[in-house]
Amino acid sequence: MTTPGPGQGAAPAETQEARRGAFSSRKVFILAAIGSAVGLGNIWRFPYVAYENGGGAFVIPYLVALLTAGLPFLFLDYALGHKHRGSAPLSLARESRKAEPLGWWQVGICFVIAVYYAVIIAYSLRYTFFSIDKAWGDDPEGYFFGDFLQANDPGVTLDVVPGVLVPLLLVWALVLVIMWLGVQKGIGATSVVFIPLLVLAFGALVVRSLFLPGAADGLDALFSPDWGALTDASVWAAAYGQIFFSLSIGFGIMITYASYVGRRTDMTGSGLVVGFANSGFELLAGIGVFAALGFMAQAGGVAVDEVVSNGIGLAFIAFPTIISEAAGGSLIGVLFFASLFIAGITSLISILEVVISAVRDRFDLGRTTAVLAVGIPATVVSVLLFSTTSGLTVLDIVDFFINRFGILLAAVVMMVVLAWGVRSLPSLAAHLNRHGSLKLGRVWMALVGVVAPLALGYVLLSEFLDTVETPYGGHPTWMLNVFGWGTAALVLVVGVVIAFTRRAPVTPAPVDDSEKEAGR
Ligand code: PHE
Repeated sequence: MTTPGPGQGAAPAETQEARRGAFSSRKVFILAAIGSAVGLGNIWRFPYVAYENGGGAFVIPYLVALLTAGLPFLFLDYALGHKHRGSAPLSLARESRKAEPLGWWQVGICFVIAVYYAVIIAYSLRYTFFSIDKAWGDDPEGYFFGDFLQANDPGVTLDVVPGVLVPLLLVWALVLVIMWLGVQKGIGATSVVFIPLLVLAFGALVVRSLFLPGAADGLDALFSPDWGALTDASVWAAAYGQIFFSLSIGFGIMITYASYVGRRTDMTGSGLVVGFANSGFELLAGIGVFAALGFMAQAGGVAVDEVVSNGIGLAFIAFPTIISEAAGGSLIGVLFFASLFIAGITSLISILEVVISAVRDRFDLGRTTAVLAVGIPATVVSVLLFSTTSGLTVLDIVDFFINRFGILLAAVVMMVVLAWGVRSLPSLAAHLNRHGSLKLGRVWMALVGVVAPLALGYVLLSEFLDTVETPYGGHPTWMLNVFGWGTAALVLVVGVVIAFTRRAPVTPAPVDDSEKEAGR
């Protein structure tokens, strides 16, 4: 929290804002927000979700989810950060003291995601190099689990795998330097360089994939519409779940980024750009991934549905197979894994900034101290839990639970609290409307207060019932309890405890007297 300077009621807006950091222009903010949104979720999650849930017909629930929940919630995040000019907990506290625990809960969720997301980026880094000489030989699966991860049977060990540890430490070193460089020179500059690079690398990959034999069968499998899926509630649930994860909303990320944006910036217009750019990238990823899978099916003489996979299996088993079989496979590999790496880094820095800015605001720390205070524990936990022979099992469990009973749950609670508990929607809409090109009114309030919480509440309930009924992934119950339910509960409890201990008075957002702004 920024303290007022000596002898002043509140420091002038300029000094406070300069101390926190800011994006130099609207363009940089948009690129950073796109960088956060475009992540592994777009590349390895979307294509599979679309394929499994109606193929071409999925476009309808997907667009409905984007328009009725994704964009409206994005605007809510923007309004909070942009109006209150603080980290997620501080912005929520400035909205209402009662809402502060929500912010700390999101900070906890971000910390947890950061420690395992970094590991997947480390795998991608390693595989970028493995692609060059196709290190996996003719057994990508055995190579991934055996040679690379040295994965053992269920159970938790502290046996660190050097082949994972080294790239993991490099990833942490890189992102911590970026974080230390600050909002504009670190996050902003990285996004300005990485996002165009990502579009180039991934674009080249898509074009190459489209020329592989069998590509058309893959696209056929992805896009053939199953209209019957539209009457299936689980398809709609999948669409809402995908949109939330994919847009990076409900993590506190967009609150944090919006707090670094000039005051007169058109936030709603920016949100539309970010939302559609993100969805555009999902579509591109769907095309690239399914074209490649079509090739894999043809090369193996099987139907496309036999090779479809997502997540870790798609990236580290299916893609190596494709790379081995395709002409010019090494190039495909380098483009694919470098894309995962770049997309991952720009998302990782966004979740870390949630934690770092919250710690800075709360303890009034400089950036360097805060980066160390967050970065060192994060690196240690990341190494101890995930670079070991049992790392992937723990990662799989934590990821599954925190996405559902962390992000989604926090998002529903946040909408309900803000709409019905502290009744903030009218004033937040008025804030965005001052400079926004898309005006928010009753429709937006109904979407954020009623439609989105109901839709997401339904998703959450059905996920909860499923998870209770069928233990996830066949993992041992004790591991699900500790790393799954345990982690989800821990971040909630820790969030509430932090919010209620050592409560300092919340200073108001710096006064907007000058209307000077960092950029537009
Ligand atoms: N939108 C991101 C993605 O698609 C979600 C995310 C953001 C995950 C930040 C981790 C960190 O991957």
